[in-house]
Amino acid sequence: AEPLRIGIAGLGTVGAAVARVLADKAAELTRQCGRDIIVNAVSARDAKRDRGVDLSSAQWFDDPVELAKKADIDVFVELIGGEDGPALACVKAALDAGRHVVTANKALLAKHGVALAETAEKKGVLLNYEAAVAGGIPVIKTMREAMAGNTVNRVFGILNGTCNYILTRMEAEGLSFEECLKDAQRLGYAEADPTFDIEGNDTAHKLAILTSLAFGTKIAAGDIYLEGISNITQADIRAASNLGFRIKLLGVAQRTESGIEQRVHPTMVPTASVIAQVHGVTNAVAIETDILGELLLSGPGAGGNATASAVVGDIADIAKSQPGFQHGPVFGRPAKELKPYRKAR
Ligand code: HSE
Repeated sequence: AEPLRIGIAGLGTVGAAVARVLADKAAELTRQCGRDIIVNAVSARDAKRDRGVDLSSAQWFDDPVELAKKADIDVFVELIGGEDGPALACVKAALDAGRHVVTANKALLAKHGVALAETAEKKGVLLNYEAAVAGGIPVIKTMREAMAGNTVNRVFGILNGTCNYILTRMEAEGLSFEECLKDAQRLGYAEADPTFDIEGNDTAHKLAILTSLAFGTKIAAGDIYLEGISNITQADIRAASNLGFRIKLLGVAQRTESGIEQRVHPTMVPTASVIAQVHGVTNAVAIETDILGELLLSGPGAGGNATASAVVGDIADIAKSQPGFQHGPVFGRPAKELKPYRKAR
């Protein structure tokens, strides 16, 4: 089959990780998808920075909108970030040009997701955004595909890795809020403007997307009650602990008699509860439905590789959806060599 040609706009923590995974795992991806996936074009602010991956065979664009319009690509991958500005302009341009789009941009989707989805539908292309919610956790695919027919009553969880990392270390190591935030930034977990993390906006963006999927409502991030963790002190954490609780920043959306309630705020959860055992940058999403019952997904919620894993998964989905994909056996395309397992005598 023809290779799938990718254009990446934005080569920060996530963009560079995506480029590295596509290069390092090229053979594995070809085996799984039945075609090569090649990075044909890239765009970022700094052309010279060493990102640990050879991008010299990709066409360089200073302007991501130009890339979206003109590059020889099948899939446009937006990893610039931000709810408007260049991210919005280039995603619009890519959809208008009839290209599939993969994005990790929750702020963009929380504000423009419905309009962008309508354009994608009109153009007959895909708009994939697994990485936008809870990093590497495949919650979008789970909700969209695996839970068909279920009626969701509640969805809630820890949706911001930076905040959970801060709260975890403040409690476990007695460190100050500022110190923990600095480390979260150094490790590539935080947003470019970390206010979005600590004031709860990032959690709200992700919750708004989950709410829309769960309840079939329009995305309405502005309707969410919002309170972040910037005022949480060591004294709060110790007081909660003395009472048998841990403080977590939760996003909650649930059906009530008066409509869908959405809120983001620091919450005291019993120390023995499952959600209280979610530590560090890990995220967790709980989904309660009528048929399935209660589902809990947890895993890495931020950082280059975790987010890249979900982005690459979205790209691979598109590679497999193109004409010419040879479905392997129902368990996936087989590797050539399998070592037989030998029983010990
Ligand atoms: N800043 C975000 C977080 C990145 O800490 O969860 C992942 O969306």
